[in-house]
Amino acid sequence: MNEPIHRREFVRRLPVLTAGLAACASTPVLTACAGAAYLTPVSGLDGFSIPAEAVRESGGVFIQNPDMRRPIYVHHSESGEWTAVLASCTHAGCQPEPLGNRLVCPCHGSEFSFAGEVLQGPAERALTRYRVVEEGRRLMIRIDGGAA
Ligand code: FES
Repeated sequence: MNEPIHRREFVRRLPVLTAGLAACASTPVLTACAGAAYLTPVSGLDGFSIPAEAVRESGGVFIQNPDMRRPIYVHHSESGEWTAVLASCTHAGCQPEPLGNRLVCPCHGSEFSFAGEVLQGPAERALTRYRVVEEGRRLMIRIDGGAA
């Protein structure tokens, strides 16, 4: 169950990795380049707030403050959909990273859509998803009441 990614699988994913790195290199709000930028959100009673433009420009960012064990990945699709998921793999808790059009877990290769759905195991459960509300120039990521 906890097998590493084999060479053939690594080679299969290489184009996705390359695309992810290219997107990373052109990200204007870049603060770290493992796959996406990190933003420190403004914390509120029912969630977090970040500038919408930061996500719109890059396509996706991690938000994390010192209280959070794992960040939340906020994504803006080309069709205009906002999603926010807890970046904690439901298989064994590693942090998935954005690669191409998905989140890929570096530990055992699970893959998730940006909406958190499992695309490939060994993970069997979706990532925890949060509601995203656009309010003016800000995005509110609602963590009250848990998943969206
Ligand atoms: Fe095992 Fe993510 S922790 S696939």
